[in-house]
Amino acid sequence: MKDLFAGDNDMARIDRLREELHRHNYNYYVLNAPEISDQEFDRLMYELQELEAKHPEYRDANSPTMRVGSDINKNFRQVVHRYPMLSLANTYSEIDVKEFYDRVKKGLEGEEFELCAELKFDGTSISLVYTDGKLTQAVTRGDGVRGDDVTDNVKTIRCIPLVLPPDKGYPREFEMRGEVLMSWTVFEELNKERELREEPLFANPRNAASGTLKLQNSAEVAQRRLDAYLYYMLGKQLPHDGHYENLMEAKAWGFKISDKIKKCRSLSEVFDYIAYWNTERKNLPVATDGIVLKVNSTRQQQFLGYTAKSPRWAIAYKFQAERERTRLNSVTYQVGRTGAVTPVANLAPVQLAGTVVKRATLHNADVIEGLDLHLGDMVYVEKGGEIIPKIVGVDMNSRAKAGEKVRFVTYCPECGVELIRYEGEAAWYCPNDTACPPQIKGKIEHFISRRAMNIEGIGSETVDQFFQEGLIRDIADLYDLKVSDIVSLERMGEKSADNIIKGIEASKTVPWARVLFAIGIRFVGETTAKVLAKSFPSVDELKVVTLDDLIRIDEIGEKIARSIILYFKDERNIGIIERLRAAGVRLKSDEEDALGASAKLVGKSVVISGVFALHSRDEYKELIERNGGKNVGSISSKTSFVLAGEQMGPSKLEKARRWNIPVIDENTFLRMIE
Ligand code: IVH
Repeated sequence: MKDLFAGDNDMARIDRLREELHRHNYNYYVLNAPEISDQEFDRLMYELQELEAKHPEYRDANSPTMRVGSDINKNFRQVVHRYPMLSLANTYSEIDVKEFYDRVKKGLEGEEFELCAELKFDGTSISLVYTDGKLTQAVTRGDGVRGDDVTDNVKTIRCIPLVLPPDKGYPREFEMRGEVLMSWTVFEELNKERELREEPLFANPRNAASGTLKLQNSAEVAQRRLDAYLYYMLGKQLPHDGHYENLMEAKAWGFKISDKIKKCRSLSEVFDYIAYWNTERKNLPVATDGIVLKVNSTRQQQFLGYTAKSPRWAIAYKFQAERERTRLNSVTYQVGRTGAVTPVANLAPVQLAGTVVKRATLHNADVIEGLDLHLGDMVYVEKGGEIIPKIVGVDMNSRAKAGEKVRFVTYCPECGVELIRYEGEAAWYCPNDTACPPQIKGKIEHFISRRAMNIEGIGSETVDQFFQEGLIRDIADLYDLKVSDIVSLERMGEKSADNIIKGIEASKTVPWARVLFAIGIRFVGETTAKVLAKSFPSVDELKVVTLDDLIRIDEIGEKIARSIILYFKDERNIGIIERLRAAGVRLKSDEEDALGASAKLVGKSVVISGVFALHSRDEYKELIERNGGKNVGSISSKTSFVLAGEQMGPSKLEKARRWNIPVIDENTFLRMIE
């Protein structure tokens, strides 16, 4: 692989690496959206560690090597860990494993020892405190010293015991550490649902699990079906000296302990374990990214001790991400709704981890520059835990002489306007937001999407068709459409045309908060729109707001505030707002909004059955619809859930069971839409 920083002197290289790693750390831990594989991250971190060791004079108390990473979220209570949550030293090489083995042997001065080999689960770590047999606290790793108290969310994870069976002989107080996970099946289902609702997809089960654990609403967490494995017991009076034996004890107390753990007495047993799981892990229901080796005896662990960051008695061996070599045929550029231009590599098709890969993301101009890509290059594509493959390097030895260097476009490939770059952002943008076709179409698609105006009958193909025909140029144009304008278009017909116009008409009842989300102000997502709509019950109040007023609102930061001000400064946007107003779109809250309309049930079809105590059937029907759901009469495989009161009919119950459809009571339902 090409050395990204060749030619720099050591100090400049240290600076570059620190900057890069800080950014990736932020992407990973704060945004939950990593741009590079773990392996790539580890490689950069390793390089930095080596350089810092070589140059102690460049020490920096804030270097990325000084911390274990942070996932602190300001909305949770912070808790200091009783024992710091350290990470493990990582390696990708069997030679390092042997060196670890030899170091342990030497450290133990010839005393016999056993290693416990375990799978390294790829989720998010958790510390569970049990007092008198009850789960009293669940905390994320955070920065290793303190983390977020996510007890309420963790309590929704079914495999985590809340109370232990009596008289099992566990200590009064002890801690279990483990990994919160999302299985591949649940992850794929979740992403499918998110795709339908046009929400951003999770890159991998790890991000999905950590994102879920940080949700503010534990009822929503419960629906995500998280899983967990526990792999470490801590406390003053543990039952055994052996780590393995303690885990087996924990298993008997009701904890979920992996049955793939194996005690090894020699290095060759360790290598056998690695070799076996390197391939066999693909058949597991959850993601794993390596194996962990731990000296089994707690006494010996204590004797070996810790470095500043990790135990000397354990190591993580990470599996190689699956990688293939293929030719880069071309680079094309996609322009999104916001005007951000994303480069995509078009590759000679290659088989990788079970699928044929033809395209890979290149993220942004810096990535292309960093790889020094040339057309026709033989590149390495990797699929780590992510779904979208990426290019991780170039085979410099087989570079064709004629291969032209890939230079990021300077003009928009769609409309020809010169691209711009905002300060502090990696992406290039097409500023032509009112005339660049994919931006216009993207904004309209966003406007009609389910969580926004939820206009049925129009998909992206119809938007494209209307745009090609010159029928729509902005979101307000939708409200000028008449059946006669569209009925004669290809693949349309009277019924579809009628449905579309009816759908547009119906969108006039969508509440103000959703309209505010739908108009597509940059950085104003669904949650921000709700917050704004609460503070500003009408567009007329919002459009005259000052920057200071906005920043004073808790959830609104400067970036969002500036974007809102900018939006309402633009006369073209004011024009669109006025046309929406004239069409009858709701630009202010009214009583019904105050009664709590939401998009929580969008895409859900709900069957009501039985007799209720808190509201009438009709009230429930209305509540379902007001929250974006559909009330349907009979149970089918498409039913999302049954809202059941007393005396639900036995045949319905049986049907729900057969289709595996959740049956929930009125309290649960009301909590769901709260
Ligand atoms: S032991 C002091 N065992 O890998 C020992 N960790 O950097 C602490 N992990 O943050 C960890 N599977 O989230 C251990 N079987 C396993 C593991 C495991 C996954 C994660 C854990 C930790 C990271 C190591």
